[in-house]
Amino acid sequence: MTAQIIDGTAIAAKVRAQVAADTAARAAAGKPQPGLATVLVGDNPASQTYVKSKQKACAEAGIASFGHSLPATASQAEVQGLVAQLNADPRVHGILVQLPLPDGLDEEQVLAAISLEKDVDGFHPINIGRLAMKGRKPLFVPCTPAGCLVLLEEAGAKFRGANAVVLGRSNIVGLPAALLLLHRDATLTVCHSRSADLPAICRTADILIAAVGRPEMVKADWVKPGAYVIDVGINRIPDATRKSGSRLVGDVAYDEVKEVAGAITPVPGGVGPMTIAMLLRNTLRGAELADNA
Ligand code: GUN
Repeated sequence: MTAQIIDGTAIAAKVRAQVAADTAARAAAGKPQPGLATVLVGDNPASQTYVKSKQKACAEAGIASFGHSLPATASQAEVQGLVAQLNADPRVHGILVQLPLPDGLDEEQVLAAISLEKDVDGFHPINIGRLAMKGRKPLFVPCTPAGCLVLLEEAGAKFRGANAVVLGRSNIVGLPAALLLLHRDATLTVCHSRSADLPAICRTADILIAAVGRPEMVKADWVKPGAYVIDVGINRIPDATRKSGSRLVGDVAYDEVKEVAGAITPVPGGVGPMTIAMLLRNTLRGAELADNA
């Protein structure tokens, strides 16, 4: 049986349309326009592309965006000075510092300097700490993992009592995705490059989230028949048949796994579009928090 293909582009469009409608309703009610500040340090081309698409998505949703760029040589004090300025700016309801930061900058300190109420990436240690605790709620949840959960919900996955396996333990995706699954009463396993017998662990999964950054690592015989498979990987591999000489693949061997899984996200067009949609939703939430402050 071929899996249900989870259409991240369509689901993201639905989220974005809802954010745009809510933003328009705010404007009609005379409330301030939500605003996102982006901070790009250095000239990493992938980061430049990501930041540009985030700004474009803001414009389409009626959200203001304020782009800030600093050179790769910026000091810790300069980066944190900019964050402090944005914390104090009432037009800004969300601050996104694009990661990774250039070598020599202390990411942890920069993220901790962002006002909790404007932490739309959900990477502030207090927001992550609350996400890690039972009965606590962060103000914001990191965008990519939050998007994974929306995709699973939309595909009809049941979380309570399900065996959920997260492959990968990054601060940006694997760890927060695992914490979100635990909040939803899944029975959780986190595995990674040092785990023994990854295929056997993954085969226990009713829900499998792959976020390791290894092209097509998860094979068909790693997947329980009928499982929900969410592929967070975006890996460029050589492909002589393409004009560009390369193509994007996920962490899951899509063609073979879709014959075993119950539902699966494609790459591209799965998790990728959800990250930006959730960022817009978080920025709107930042504006709502400011309304009630
Ligand atoms: N780099 C890769 N993913 C992300 C993300 O979700 N937020 C930020 N700020 N940087 C990233």
